[in-house]
Amino acid sequence: MEEILKHSELSIEKSRPGRRGVQFEKTQKHAADYLPSSYLRTQEPNLPQLSEFDTVRHFTRLSQLNYSLDAQFYPLGSCTMKYNPKAYDVLSVLPQFASAHPFAPQSAIQGTLKALYELQEGLKAITGLAAFTVQPAAGAHGELTGILTVRAYHDSRNDLKRTEVIVPDTAHGTNPATANMAGYTVVNIKSGADGCVDLEALQDALSDKTAAVMLTIPNTVGLFEKNIRQIAEMVHKAGALLYMDGANFNALIGLAKPADFGVDVMHLNLHKTFAAPHGGGGPGSGPVGAAAHVAKFLPKPFVVCENGVYKLEADRTESIGKMKAFYGNAAVCLRGLCYLKQFDGNTLKTIAENAILNANYVRAKLKGKFNAFFDTNCMHECVLSIDPHAMNGVHTSDVAKRLLDYGFYAPTIYFPLIVPEALMIEPTETESKEMLDAFVRALEKIYEEIQTTPDVVKAAPHTQCVERIDEVSAARQPNLRW
Ligand SMILES: Cc1ncc(COP(=O)(O)O)c(C=O)c1O
Repeated sequence: MEEILKHSELSIEKSRPGRRGVQFEKTQKHAADYLPSSYLRTQEPNLPQLSEFDTVRHFTRLSQLNYSLDAQFYPLGSCTMKYNPKAYDVLSVLPQFASAHPFAPQSAIQGTLKALYELQEGLKAITGLAAFTVQPAAGAHGELTGILTVRAYHDSRNDLKRTEVIVPDTAHGTNPATANMAGYTVVNIKSGADGCVDLEALQDALSDKTAAVMLTIPNTVGLFEKNIRQIAEMVHKAGALLYMDGANFNALIGLAKPADFGVDVMHLNLHKTFAAPHGGGGPGSGPVGAAAHVAKFLPKPFVVCENGVYKLEADRTESIGKMKAFYGNAAVCLRGLCYLKQFDGNTLKTIAENAILNANYVRAKLKGKFNAFFDTNCMHECVLSIDPHAMNGVHTSDVAKRLLDYGFYAPTIYFPLIVPEALMIEPTETESKEMLDAFVRALEKIYEEIQTTPDVVKAAPHTQCVERIDEVSAARQPNLRW
């Protein structure tokens, strides 16, 4: 169809010399009034010259091309966008926090330090661990911090032969990547038929070379390690430490404390469980906690409170040192603190209960049409597996693309790798029953289509701004202009 309105034009292409929005008379000093002439531009900057309408419409249109949680349900298993209350956004950009200069004297940022301290304390309380740093800037950054802390622990005991980190095949992909980046050899172990760690395989892999076992809990098939206490005992008996990837702590918060089942070091993702937006590449926050015997190796400085005064304490000789300039992503930490404060000891567990309930609701409703790979109750996400032979040749990617036509963002697909044709759905604790019913209804409609008109599903999407693309060409010769 002829494009009459040139929607696809860039702002610079829409530019016309002299076109402007409202302009006020010069009331303030101009740069030329006070800067030396050698610092002044000699040419106008090459910026788009647009009317106010042009500008507002351009950016409004671009924002509408984005799929966001503000627009629709986002069931992207393992990396879901979570509830991000607008009120927290407002609080986290209060000028008292947002305008604090990174080099401000500590006496001038007591409020910020207090907030970070309270967050550290809150995370200690919900995990049972002895110390928490909120320095790391993302989940994977937290993992690296945690594994370097593990190394410092072994080094301090002169236990230098520990060169391996054991990672089961149900771990998040960042776990083996982290171990590798920290200089360890990754030893992969297969899971059992129940989707949990195979204890025999673990025992065979453990040795005096094992530095740590990294477990994603719940794991990427959405299951809790039911033998976790036994696993912790085996790991400790071998002289190694148990690392927990707690990015998806929304499945456990208020219900279980990792310290109680033997975790030595763990990270959390504030941008998954604690209300900060996730996606778009950040900023994130991956606080790391440690049990008492490992705590002194965590990065410095720590926020401490002495006689009601908050300060950054850097006097920690055994610490692995700094992991990030300044101290964490304060605005993300503030959102996390707001979230924690919204709940108390009794209501905190409703987060986990609702996350688990919602995932199991979707799983149960779809049973018989789209089945979970492991036929058992799941935690915060359910992983379905689509068998193309039983589905008229329809693959997981077809179902995901057809969901777009029904107005839903596609779940994570083909991950975790141990599930064939995986479709990983994480509804989160914050979606309503009505929304989950609508999502289930869309999948039921797709199931009906698979029986009657499978080609419609195989050729999806049909209602998007681009139809099904040639994926090979898209990867080999990407043409990124629409
Ligand atoms: C289980 C798990 N671990 C680690 C990460 C990595 O977190 P980040 O993307 O902040 O590095 C994620 C990301 O969502 C995750 O789901």
